[in-house]
Formats: sequence, C-alpha cells, structure tokens
Amino acid sequence: MTADDAPLTGVDADGLRELATEIFIAAGLSGRDAGAVAGHLVEADLRGVDSHGVSRTAVYVHRLRRGLVEARPRFRVLTETPVSALLDAGNGPGIVAAEHAMRTAADKAAETGVGMVSVRNSNHCGMLAHYTGMAASRGLLSLATTSAPASMAPWGAKDPYFGTNPVSYAVPAPGDRPDIVFDMATSHVAKGKIILARKNGQSIPVGWALDARGRPTTDPDAALEGTVLPLGGAKGSGLALLVEVLSALLSGANHGPHIPPLYDNDEHPQGLGHFFLAMNPAVLVPEEEFAARVDRMAEELAALPAAEGYERVCLPGEPEAERAAHRRAHGVPLSAEVRAELRAVAGELGVDAAAAAVLDGAAGTPPAAAGAADSAERAPR
Ligand SMILES: NC(=O)c1ccc[n+]([C@@H]2O[C@H](COP(=O)([O-])OP(=O)(O)OC[C@H]3O[C@@H](n4cnc5c(N)ncnc54)[C@H](O)[C@@H]3O)[C@@H](O)[C@H]2O)c1
Repeated sequence: MTADDAPLTGVDADGLRELATEIFIAAGLSGRDAGAVAGHLVEADLRGVDSHGVSRTAVYVHRLRRGLVEARPRFRVLTETPVSALLDAGNGPGIVAAEHAMRTAADKAAETGVGMVSVRNSNHCGMLAHYTGMAASRGLLSLATTSAPASMAPWGAKDPYFGTNPVSYAVPAPGDRPDIVFDMATSHVAKGKIILARKNGQSIPVGWALDARGRPTTDPDAALEGTVLPLGGAKGSGLALLVEVLSALLSGANHGPHIPPLYDNDEHPQGLGHFFLAMNPAVLVPEEEFAARVDRMAEELAALPAAEGYERVCLPGEPEAERAAHRRAHGVPLSAEVRAELRAVAGELGVDAAAAAVLDGAAGTPPAAAGAADSAERAPR
C-alpha cells in the first residue's frame, strides 16, 4: 500500500476543530491560542496538507506537556522600525508566533507599503500557506519561510544539512477569484509526508529520499534515518539556502544541523526561526491596474490547452481550495492510526468524551462519502 491509497474515514471539520481546541486547552494553551493551533491543523487537513494537519496534535501536546514548548509564551519585540520587526517568540507554539508575525508584517505593509518580520525562539509553525493567505486576504503580496531541523542533503552531499525549508507566496486576486497561494517544501516532498506514511504503515515512492547509506529507498523508516532529497537537485538546494538565510541567519535562530528535532527529542527546545514579508502592490501600481493584470494572467493560464494526462491548468492553491470545499462538505478523511492517536491524546488529557463524540461517528460522515471525497480530491494533481 502506498501513501496515496490508505483506507480513510471522513470526520466533520467543525467537530474536529472543537476537539483539537479542547485538547490544546487541556494541554495548557489559552482558549485563543488553542483555537488558533487547532484551526490551523484542521485547515491543513481540509486543504489536503494532511502531513501538517491533526496528525501533528500528539507531538505538539507531548512537547507542551514536557515544557519543551511554552504554553503561555511572552513575545518580545527586539528591534522595530516602521517596516520591520524582530520578534522573540518566547519558545511558544510556532503557529501562534507566526500568525502574530504575519499580522504585524501586514499591518506595517498596509501603513508603509512593506512589512517584514523576522522571528526567533519559535517552534514548528505548520503550513505556510495559512500565513501568506492571511496577507493576501488583505490585498497584500506576501512571502513566508521557516527553518526546520536538518533532514535534507544539500545538492551533492550524502548527509542532511538543510531542513525541508518551505517557502510560500500569495498574490491577492480580484473579486470572487481565489487568491493565488503557492506553498512548497524545497525538498522533493515535505518530510511530514514521510512521517505520515510511516504512521499509516505505507511505503513511499522512489525519489523522495535516501537511506542512511545514501541509497534510494521506499521504506519510510529508512528514509527518516537517511535524508530527503532537494527538489530539482541544485535548484531546490539553492532555494533551501535562501530559506535558511531569511528564517534563521537574519533572526538569529538556530539553523539546519543546529536545530534539535521535533520528534524523539525530550530534551531541547527547537529554537526555530521564520520570516514574513508583506507588500502593498498599490505603492508601485494603481490597485485596479494590478488587479486587472492578475485577473488577465489567471484567465489566460486557465484557458491554456491541457497537456496529455492533465485535465486542465490550475493556479497554485487551486487544488487545495477545491479539496477544502469538498472536505468541508464530506468530512476530513483521517486514517485509523491518526484517529487512534487523537483518542489516546484526548484520553491522557481527560477529554475522551469529546474525542468519542467526534471520532466515533456522531460528527463523522460515512466512510463511503469520505472515499468519494478522496478520489475527487486527487483529480487535479
Ligand atoms: N513548518 C515546516 O517546518 C514545514 C516544512 C516543510 C513543509 N511544510 C509545509 O508542508 C506543506 C506541503 O508542502 P509540499 O511541498 O508537499 O506541497 P505540494 O507539493 O503539495 O504543493 C506545492 C505547490 O504546488 C501547487 N500545486 C500542486 N498541484 C498543482 C497543480 N496541479 N497545478 C498547479 N499548482 C499545483 C500547490 O498549490 C502548492 O502551492 C506546505 O504547506 C509547507 O508549508 C512545512
């Protein structure tokens, strides 16, 4: 069985968000921060970024309970100008810090034309599309990057040095047209997809990773002991270096091999860094003119004839937006392993009743509907 054909069961997204919020409150977060983290994870699941969805709940809770992540962090602004801020996230949840940072960057961009916020002393911040999408919904162009523990070999190296160093940008689109939201790891695939495949007992395709001896592997365990590969060889490797500079070197956060791992690490906080940039297009070009140009390009792209084997040309973020609409209606497909893990975490924190209500069918959709959701979701890829 591969990562693409596991049996999955649909769970109502609102119920899942409420359950995850209860879990994070029980783990010590404020109601507001718990809602932000839970909302982020469920949004990732809705968009089909399952590797950064509620499957992360257990490790987030584990690190909160061991005090490796501060449940009630104190953010500190270390330096600030009208266009920039350097934020110490107080070792708090990365998602909370990243939302705050992008909001600050967007506020500055709305006022001055550009805003950049660099973050250090932070933690795993999940799916970057969430933050660039936040800025796009305010009419701003945006960019986000984060560092991650070493797991990817730079081009030509046998051992990991960079993280999977993701980068996301978003372009605001006019009217009813969805914003263009691009978001990718600079590795061939996000390491989370390998972690999820291991959790689900699935193999991975050749080309995603090397084992510890530098050989191609389809075994997620072997891959997690070895290294993931950069996207497009030297090109992905070069982009990963830029992400490292923006996220870690600028902020003074740990970088690459100096970042303690998220998993199997009960000793050290991660000390991660992120970078957020928001730009107001209106400082360069009249707003309506830019909107018309984006609209025209989007229309031209969508009208291009599809290549053999493709249904149509999609814009970045379109497959995820379509998947989210489908999953909102039909439920979020969660594997038995992820459901079991959520039940176990909820049990440890005394919120098992909520878990039973959401995961055991009361708020779920029938597996048949979830299966339908699944096949429809894969179409545009
Ligand atoms: N926080 C971290 O440490 C960390 C590390 C690595 C990755 N991530 C996250 O993992 C997630 C997954 O990354 P990924 O590299 O697997 O992304 P992916 O390969 O699924 O998608 C990459 C981009 O390609 C676009 N795309 C996909 N199919 C398309 C199509 N048919 N037409 C046009 N565009 C299409 C998507 O919209 C997306 O913007 C991202 O959200 C990333 O932020 C986070």
